[in-house]
Amino acid sequence: MDSFISSLHQWYRINKRDLPWRNTQDPYQIWISEIILQQTRIAQGTNYYLRFIHTFPTIVHLAEANEDEVLKLWQGLGYYSRARNLHSTAKTIVHSHGAKFPTNYTDLLKLKGIGPYTAAAIASMAFDLPYPAVDGNIYRVLSRYFGIATPIDSSGGKKQFQQLAEELIINKPPGMHNQALMEFGALQCVPKSPDCSLCPVADTCFAKLNQLIEQLPVKSKK
Ligand code: ADE
Repeated sequence: MDSFISSLHQWYRINKRDLPWRNTQDPYQIWISEIILQQTRIAQGTNYYLRFIHTFPTIVHLAEANEDEVLKLWQGLGYYSRARNLHSTAKTIVHSHGAKFPTNYTDLLKLKGIGPYTAAAIASMAFDLPYPAVDGNIYRVLSRYFGIATPIDSSGGKKQFQQLAEELIINKPPGMHNQALMEFGALQCVPKSPDCSLCPVADTCFAKLNQLIEQLPVKSKK
């Protein structure tokens, strides 16, 4: 398990994209990037992120904006509730938390629009706390490498992947570790026809060894 993770970290150091939110530990900037990237591809999301941070450089700027300004900047991204929640939560943090972002997972989770994934992303990347950010990329990487066929959209599956991800992050630099797994899923262990000849862990990957790449992860049919 340790050589799997150290191989992924090494892969990340060499292959990571230079994305603007990776050069900061500012929880505000990380929060904005994660909300934008929830339903938006990197190529499009990066431009919106840069414009957003340029227009509202701090949480106080965002809290003091008119909702119309925020929504205008969001135009084209869709899912406008994301923008409304951002604005509302910025006001909450400024008015009820003295403009200080909560620094622990439990308090982050209380904020409107911040669920377990986003709370873990902020806690790990801004505050170096060992919470795994478990998204679709992580389900795919872990189900293939470890050969886990439990449906990822079942409650049992979610618990199983969460638990495994919690074990894997122990004693690792949390922010880098989460970004590494995410990036590995986004660039190497892709959903369709991954090029396993380039993969640093192919020789110990359950799915590769058993020709199950296209069968994993499993989704329960609806
Ligand atoms: N998708 C969601 N969060 C991301 C991040 N921090 N880096 C790259 N892609 C992401």
